[in-house]
Amino acid sequence: MAIKLGILGLGTVGTGTVQLLLDHTGRHPLLAEIEIYRVGVRSLDKPRQVKLADNLFTTDLESIVTDPQVDIVVELIGGLEPARSLILQAIQCGKHVVTANKAVISRFGDEIFTAANQAGVYVMLEAAVAGGIPVISPLKQSLSVNRIHTVTGIVNGTTNYILTRMQAEGGNFDDVLADAQRLGYAEADPTADVDGLDAADKIAILASLAFDGRIKLEDVYCEGIRQVSKTDIAYAEKLGFVIKLLAIAKQDNSSAPLSVRVHPTLVAHTHPLASINGVYNAILVEGEPIGQVMFFGPGAGAGATASAVSSDILNLVAELKISTENTNPLLTCRHHSYSQIAPIEELVTRFYTRFLTRDQPGVIGKLGTYFGQYGVSLESVVQTGFQGELAEIVVVTHDVRQGDFNQALAEIRSLDAVHSIPSLLRVL
Ligand code: HSE
Repeated sequence: MAIKLGILGLGTVGTGTVQLLLDHTGRHPLLAEIEIYRVGVRSLDKPRQVKLADNLFTTDLESIVTDPQVDIVVELIGGLEPARSLILQAIQCGKHVVTANKAVISRFGDEIFTAANQAGVYVMLEAAVAGGIPVISPLKQSLSVNRIHTVTGIVNGTTNYILTRMQAEGGNFDDVLADAQRLGYAEADPTADVDGLDAADKIAILASLAFDGRIKLEDVYCEGIRQVSKTDIAYAEKLGFVIKLLAIAKQDNSSAPLSVRVHPTLVAHTHPLASINGVYNAILVEGEPIGQVMFFGPGAGAGATASAVSSDILNLVAELKISTENTNPLLTCRHHSYSQIAPIEELVTRFYTRFLTRDQPGVIGKLGTYFGQYGVSLESVVQTGFQGELAEIVVVTHDVRQGDFNQALAEIRSLDAVHSIPSLLRVL
C-alpha cells in the first residue's frame, strides 16, 4: 500500500520536492511507493509547475494534518506560525513529520521533539541545515559513535557570496549587498542572512545533534558581516587569511560547557573552509577517533533542498515498511543483477603525456601528425627543456576516446626519435 504524503506549501522547495517524487525513475525504488495525497497551498488559483490533479489541492492546511489517511506531513511553508502549530497538530494526530524549517526547529525544538517522543513519531529535518548537504543524518547516525569536538560551518550562502565577492573585487559591503540583491542572491530584507541569524538557527540545530543536548537559541552568540570592511579583507589576505562567516560549536572536553557562536572569522588560506566560495556551504566536523570530515555542497535551491526533504521522506517510508516487510529496505541489499561497466577504451578524457625524444628536427610535427590521424586534438604542446641529451616534450590533449589515444601512442612509441614516454596521466 502506498505511503500517503500531505505536503504543506508548494513554493520553491515544495515544487522541487514534488517534481523529484513524481520523477522517480533511476532513484530509490521506494519512492515509487509514495503517493502525494494532499497539497496545502495559500491560493488555489496560482499557476503551478507540477502535474498534480486539481482535487489534491486545498487551502485548509489543518484538514491535511488531521486527515487519518495521511502518513507523513511534509511542512514546507516556512516561518514560525502556522508552521509550528501545524507540526504539533500533525504529531498529535500520530503523523511523522518532515520539515525544512530551521527557524521553527531552533526556537521550538524542545516543544516539538518532546511532543514527538510522547506520540512515538519522528520529526525529520535534513533540509533545515545546509540545503542539499546531508549533515543531519551523518551527525545522528554515522558520526555519532565519535566524540565530537568541533562543528565549524559556512552555513549561509548569501553571506558567503557577499564575502567572496568583496574578497575578489575589493568591493565594500553595501555595494556588494546591493548587487547581490539585484541578482537575487540576497533577499530584499537581508537581515536574517547578513546579521548571522540564519546561521545561528542552523548551528543551534547542529550543536544539539553533535553534542547531545538541547540548545537555547538566545545562548548562541551571533555577529553578522555588516562590519566587515574591504580594508580588513585586504589586510587579512596579506597575512594569509580569508574572512568567512563561521558558525562554530565546540566543546573542549565532555564535561566542559559548549561554545556556540556565529561571527566573521579570519581563516588561514590552508584551512579546508577557506576555499568554500560563493553560495556554497560546507561543514567541517572534528571528532575522536575519526579526525576531520568535511561536507560540502549547495546550501539552498529547489533541487538541492528537495533532495534533502525527499531523503527524510524515504527514511520514513522505510520505517513504515519495516512492520510489513520485517527488514529495513534501506539496509537490505536490493540489487539482483550486475551493472554494465563501460570498457576503459571507451573512456573519453583529456591526457597529459610527457615524452623524452631525441633532439631532431620535425619531432613535434610527427607527434602532431600521429595524434591527428587518430583524431586526438591537442590543447597544448610545450618543450620544457632537456634531460641530458633528450628533449622533454609535454602534451595535453582535448577530450579523446582512450582507445584512439592508445593507438596514436603505440605508433608514436615506435618512432626512432621517441626515446620513452615516462608519464601518462588523465586530466579532469
Ligand atoms: N538564506 C539561506 C542562505 C538559505 O543564504 O544560505 C536558506 O537557508
